[in-house]
Amino acid sequence: MQTLRRKDILGLEEMSAEEITLILETARSMREIIQRPIKKVPALRGRSMINLFYEPSTRTKASFELAQKYMSSDPISVGGSSSSLVKGETLKDTVRNLEMMNIDCVVMRHPVSGSAHYLARNVEISVINAGDGMHEHPTQGLLDMFTILDKKGRLEELKVVIVGDIRHSRVARSNIWGLKKMGAQVLVSGPPTLMPPDLEVFGVEYCPRVEEAVEGADVVMALRLQKERQEGGLFPTLREYAELYGLSSESAARAKDDALIMHPGPINRGIEITSELADGPRSVVLEQVTAGVAVRMAILYLLLGGAKEE
Ligand code: CP
Repeated sequence: MQTLRRKDILGLEEMSAEEITLILETARSMREIIQRPIKKVPALRGRSMINLFYEPSTRTKASFELAQKYMSSDPISVGGSSSSLVKGETLKDTVRNLEMMNIDCVVMRHPVSGSAHYLARNVEISVINAGDGMHEHPTQGLLDMFTILDKKGRLEELKVVIVGDIRHSRVARSNIWGLKKMGAQVLVSGPPTLMPPDLEVFGVEYCPRVEEAVEGADVVMALRLQKERQEGGLFPTLREYAELYGLSSESAARAKDDALIMHPGPINRGIEITSELADGPRSVVLEQVTAGVAVRMAILYLLLGGAKEE
């Protein structure tokens, strides 16, 4: 059985192209399982996991729980506001206490960049990063690559344009690291105030005008404005942002005719993308959600499937 030779999944910056390929190939098999009438395999029977979500989530939390249940593991989910964090307990103490219940893995979403790495250094169990601040959202990057690969048959040499709030987006960072490792050309677009100050470290081109950026694109990905992480004054008004940087049939017109339109969700309709485009024939937004379950099953299987002696 193939496994990932690592304890944790923290980000795609540190993952090799071989590891990404293994996860994407395994996710294909997992997708077959979730298409069956009875979606249950014993691969993770007896493995216990805790999902710790200190920020809101619909897609990531639900798909991790489904993935865990489809693979017969025993997950429980703890929300930030219902945990002892609100009584002043530290993250390290919280997870070290949970670790003493003999769990195998913690899946964590947290508002602080680097929190998943910090936790992984301080506990022996596996840590899966379900989004840490502005840093990374590796399982989202993997499910986006899975969706593109499924539709286009390859990732190498595709032109992928990511539009919007790159600066505050962990989705953008994970996609950039992952897609570049897999040989895609990545270009970013949006207002200069929403670009990371250290954009050059990512090795991507920046084109401020969306209409020019999407010229000949194979994939156009819109990002949510991360208002919860923004300080004020980064763009004049939402209406002007939508006019200048929102994706619409007009602004995406110069992409290839068969270009995929993507968005990680949740969507602010009419701001970063029009409903016409998000619900149109080129949109794979809902396929991304389906891919999320398969990819998270693959990660859990590769990380934990053979990890513990019977
Ligand atoms: N894409 C994503 O992470 O969505 P949620 O915040 O709903 O999990």
